[in-house]
Amino acid sequence: MILPIVAYGDPVLRKKGSKVDADYPGLEALIFNMWETMYEAHGVGLAAPQVGRSINLFIIDTGAFDDEKTSARKQVFINSEILEESGEEWEYEEGCLSIPHIRENVKRLSKLKIRYQNEKFETFEEEFDGLAARVIQHEFDHCQGLMFVDHVSQLKKRLLKNKLLNISKGAVRVDYKMRFPIR
Ligand code: NI
Repeated sequence: MILPIVAYGDPVLRKKGSKVDADYPGLEALIFNMWETMYEAHGVGLAAPQVGRSINLFIIDTGAFDDEKTSARKQVFINSEILEESGEEWEYEEGCLSIPHIRENVKRLSKLKIRYQNEKFETFEEEFDGLAARVIQHEFDHCQGLMFVDHVSQLKKRLLKNKLLNISKGAVRVDYKMRFPIR
């Protein structure tokens, strides 16, 4: 089932996602629906707060990137903790399904070490770099109540203010299902 993606301005995007237990009701169906929703919207990642669930869960599929250096990763991350970020700071133009048509350069460190559980609640500690690390950092932020526009300069953010307000009001054209906080 395709779920509506929550637009910028909804308070659920600003809450820190809570820990997920193995007995979280309907978890398997939620993950299935998140995959369907992400692919329908042509996204490479989707976090649970973006479908209105304030929990520490996100999915990524970097297969869409045409980049030989990034091995394609299709994966579910539950109860993630970033243990370490390292490497060089690099800029990449990020977008977000909750903030349609806005893309901005965001600086982040190139490598990370993350502890997470998969959908079977097995725990892993793993290192990522390149675009996979970038997508994980972006989606992890969502589970902390952060969004990529929080990483741009105050000046840039002021320039984006009206566009962001229009998105919250639904004054934006999108070809996937969305839910807007201001009506
Ligand atoms: Ni996003």
